[in-house]
Amino acid sequence: MSSTSEKTRLFIEKAGSRLGAIVHGVDAKLPLTEEQKEFLRTELVRNKVIFLKKQFLDDAQHEALSRVFGEPILHPTIAAPEGTKYTFELKSRYGRSTDSWHTDVTFVPDYPKASILRAIHIPPYGGGTIWANTATAYDDLPPPLKALADKAWGIHSNDYDTNYYKFDGKKGEIAAFRAEFISKLYVTEHPVVRVHPESGEKTLVLGHFIIGLDGFPTREANALVDILQGYITQVENTVTWRWEEGDVAIWDNRATQHYAPADFDQQARQLRRITVKGDTPVSIDGRRSQYIKQP
Ligand SMILES: [Fe+2]
Repeated sequence: MSSTSEKTRLFIEKAGSRLGAIVHGVDAKLPLTEEQKEFLRTELVRNKVIFLKKQFLDDAQHEALSRVFGEPILHPTIAAPEGTKYTFELKSRYGRSTDSWHTDVTFVPDYPKASILRAIHIPPYGGGTIWANTATAYDDLPPPLKALADKAWGIHSNDYDTNYYKFDGKKGEIAAFRAEFISKLYVTEHPVVRVHPESGEKTLVLGHFIIGLDGFPTREANALVDILQGYITQVENTVTWRWEEGDVAIWDNRATQHYAPADFDQQARQLRRITVKGDTPVSIDGRRSQYIKQP
């Protein structure tokens, strides 16, 4: 086999046991063939997070890649950086990253179906990202806990506090980001268990935007969420990606949570993300997520 056909041969290499695979044979700087697009979409649902190594995309190429998975959307409250329409910039602030478990943007009903993240600047140590499989986490629940989760509804808001206790809120850049993040208030009710629209799997909808469980006092909601979250973040239920600059990770945001450990001290870390429009989750008994409050 020639080196050219080897470079364009589409195949996956597993990166973890329960989720995660590297896709080979795609150069996302170039227009993709229908076969490549279909391969990416299929492998995304199958593996939940896929990695394309050393792509070195610019903003326009990043946006073009995101369109393979759906319609790019802007973050509800954070403006895109200059020269881009849909990009969300992830920049370390005082050594901090998004170091708490979450699914992206679950404070709106039709939260993104997928996120496409590219590494621009990665520190020499630390700065990786961890993903967890929320479908296998559900499968792992003991039957009585499944029965409880099946009927529970979570309240999610962008005015959450799970992560911010770690920050010194007086520091200007963090305070400014927080103020922009909650400049408009969103509160949404999601089933704790949704049925994945493509795979039919049942997945847990939790993560750091959850501020309560419908019908439960705060103390009991926190305890229950902790128990369920424990099945998601079980180490064996995760995959870790040690970024190299130029890498792209694409995750099925309907079937995963992720966490960026703040383990890189004060070194710079910069990535850019584009999310694509999602569908509104449907519970096992056919009810849809809905706004409780929106601007
Ligand atoms: Fe995120």
